[in-house]
Amino acid sequence: MRRGKGLATLNRLDRRALLIASARIAALTALAPLAGCTAAPAQTKLDRDPFTLGVASGDPLPDAVVLWTRLAMDPLKGGGMGTAPVDVEWRIASDEALKDVVRSGTVTAVADLAHSVHVDATGLAPDRVYWYRFRAGGAESPIGRTRTAPAATASPAALRFAFASCQNYTQGYYTAHAALAKEDLHAVVFLGDYIYEGDARGDRVRDYSRRGWAFALADYRDRYATYKMDKDLQASHAAFPWIVTWDDHEVENNYAGGIDVTDPKNKQAIFERTNAYQAYYEHMPLRGPRPQGPALKLYRTLSYGDLATFHVLDTRQYRSPEIALCADKDETPSGYCAASLDPRRSMLGADQRTWLLSGLAGSKAAWNLVAQSVRFAQQDSSPDPATHRFDGVDNWMGYVVDQRLLLDAFSKVKNPVVLSGDSHVDFVYDVKRDFSDPKSATVATELLGTSISSDGDPFIPQTQFDGSAKNPQLRFFDNHRGYVRCSVERSRLTADFRAVSTVTAPAATVSTTATFVIDDGRPGAHRM
Ligand SMILES: [Fe+2]
Repeated sequence: MRRGKGLATLNRLDRRALLIASARIAALTALAPLAGCTAAPAQTKLDRDPFTLGVASGDPLPDAVVLWTRLAMDPLKGGGMGTAPVDVEWRIASDEALKDVVRSGTVTAVADLAHSVHVDATGLAPDRVYWYRFRAGGAESPIGRTRTAPAATASPAALRFAFASCQNYTQGYYTAHAALAKEDLHAVVFLGDYIYEGDARGDRVRDYSRRGWAFALADYRDRYATYKMDKDLQASHAAFPWIVTWDDHEVENNYAGGIDVTDPKNKQAIFERTNAYQAYYEHMPLRGPRPQGPALKLYRTLSYGDLATFHVLDTRQYRSPEIALCADKDETPSGYCAASLDPRRSMLGADQRTWLLSGLAGSKAAWNLVAQSVRFAQQDSSPDPATHRFDGVDNWMGYVVDQRLLLDAFSKVKNPVVLSGDSHVDFVYDVKRDFSDPKSATVATELLGTSISSDGDPFIPQTQFDGSAKNPQLRFFDNHRGYVRCSVERSRLTADFRAVSTVTAPAATVSTTATFVIDDGRPGAHRM
């Protein structure tokens, strides 16, 4: 990532303009158009750098990728862009110096969307690296690098991606993003808890700049701005296209969106979701359309030729309300809370469930990667060897009907691999056709990745999550901060669990704590 030139000079010129005009944004003379632009749009000069939040790209298709930025001269105070629309020029090129421009244009950033920009740059070649940059008000953004997906008919030999989640800003520096940005990848998959709402909690290594939280749109916007001002996170975005979904903290801890939006008692929840969903869209490289009230369609598929398809899930927006912690009298002999087994409950909601089941059934991909937020596999948390307890307050164990429908689907699809986050530790699971029977066939593999920073440096004893006789499906546990790097080839998927040495200091080393391999046609992971 490189900085644009000439901001200091522009600031001097603008200071003179500001003596004349009291408004922060003043319409001045038109700038020369970018090379490759077909027109010379009127520009608005800005008195400070508006590219404080970096750039990003996402949702790569064979011929298109979404380019993102948000103008924010005063990022922690609402953006400081006023109410006027601002023209933003963009260009995407096949070379790092941005000389060979293949597409360019101008879009208008509006206050209604926090002056965010989502450009769907189309007409690109498949499986190609591109570089892109924005320009507004005389300032240039950093340069981002991105990559299109292979053609739908292509048979690529390999796909390299990493997945990550849970980046609580106050609990750690983004040393994992610094390392991630240096990897050699086609894409990054982010599985939720991009921000944490509300006041800082737990041990803090850095702080938010202001106190107070009311779930207002301004609160969410300023929170995203805080996170996105981090240079390591910016580097990670600028290096690869991201494929994102969310978990709970983008709205509120452990929220469940499957509620009646017309019920007056849900008024506060609807207020929070409406604001949170809008701010999420404003800050993510999503293709859109923008959310309508408390509704943003996030579930989608993204394919890399016939090698791999990401089935990206939304496990929050449509899920039935979470069950309370199960009292002993509510527990069934199986160890499940009776409410978890209620056939009316759904993790995905009816429409997404139909979409996923038909997408899996019709998939021609060699690898089917189900990218979603929370733990899928069963895990027995009873300390008593003679009894079971399957605590499903927030994960798939609380939504057993949907979990079993997916287990059935996994048994019929090629190489299903569930990618998960949320737990702030690494887990590898054999996903069993029937978890209650250890001899049952393994039908899929779950790779659950640790947090980028949430929960800070490791504190959980390594023995606490031992894959004992009670949990033979659990193949691996590690409690470092980091991310998971995957290489998908036709014959195997290799997952490297990457760990940083610390998140309590701004710099760290990174290493691989374990490598697991899943062979084609043989669900379940094997440690190398
Ligand atoms: Fe989290």
